[in-house]
Amino acid sequence: MATILAIESSCDETSASICKDGKILSNIIATQAVHEKYGGVVPELASRAHQQNIIPVVVEAILAAKVSKKDIQAVAFTRGPGLLGSLLVGTSFAKGFALALNVPLIEINHMHAHILAHFIDDPKPAFPFLCLTVSGGHTQIILVRDYFDMEIVGETTDDAAGEAFDKTAKILGLPYPGGPLVDKQARIGNPHAFVFPEPQIPGLNFSFSGLKTSILYFVKDHKKLDPDFVQNNLADICASVQYRIVTILLNKLKKAAKQYHISDVAIAGGVSANSGLRDLLTETAVKENWQIYIPAFEYCTDNAAMIAIAGYYKYIHGDFVGQDVSPLARMDF
Ligand code: KG4
Ligand code: ZN
Repeated sequence: MATILAIESSCDETSASICKDGKILSNIIATQAVHEKYGGVVPELASRAHQQNIIPVVVEAILAAKVSKKDIQAVAFTRGPGLLGSLLVGTSFAKGFALALNVPLIEINHMHAHILAHFIDDPKPAFPFLCLTVSGGHTQIILVRDYFDMEIVGETTDDAAGEAFDKTAKILGLPYPGGPLVDKQARIGNPHAFVFPEPQIPGLNFSFSGLKTSILYFVKDHKKLDPDFVQNNLADICASVQYRIVTILLNKLKKAAKQYHISDVAIAGGVSANSGLRDLLTETAVKENWQIYIPAFEYCTDNAAMIAIAGYYKYIHGDFVGQDVSPLARMDF
């Protein structure tokens, strides 16, 4: 029997979750609106917002789970990777809480947790499987052999897929974070209205910086002829860019599946909430005969439930850390 409190504070979401024997009882997320007007996350403001949010979010998670503080047998927290100041708030809180209750601490790698979010609900993937992890900071194809035995077999050489969405949104004048807004527009646009180039990157690696540049020039050139080009074609531009980002991702995933002879395929991270990616993955699965795993929306973007489930699998192996642990902006996979 294990009741675990989990804390996530790696970027601009303060989140706490309670998990009992591998079952999520609560998952409270406070999103920080303070960054919107800056067009991106401001690290110092993020740390301050985490400091304000952390106690109310933890209290709400405990109340919503209908447990009491003394039921908690371990505290799991995101050690990295992420913004150091943000991680410091979650890590310090977790250490203080664990010390006060005299319970063990469990460190979690944020990127492992995005993948282990697939073990929250049924059906759960069978090992080994491939996971395309796509977030604001990462784009990776991971060969997952076991809960904590994972290998990066492909990754971006420059921008992440989420960044490609966010930068596109910025070029088009949409507010931050732009990914979900590009997605919303894309639903009513024609994905074949405009054609953006697919980069030719060897192996299983990705590159998105060329795409960003081509969108920039595409918009500039069209605006010379029609200053209202973006407003008049927003949905079609979003749909065409999204189509290219998604096909870049899925073409590499197909290549990886062939190379490793694996037909169990999952997606994870913030961009796995994208409707174009979810739809095209579903279509590809039928053609390629894949078993696919798409997380529930609430477990795609940053949340503490994924930290809790990862914590649970470490708890059953007694994999704890001491009070001398410190956060890591970069963390080995
Ligand atoms: O995993 P996540 O919440 O945070 C990081 O660890 O980075 O991912 C955030 C990223 C942002 O770039 C955001 O724009 C993108 O995920 N995102 C989306 C969608 N929802 C979130 N991108 C495209 N379509 C979406 N529906
Ligand atoms: Zn994340």
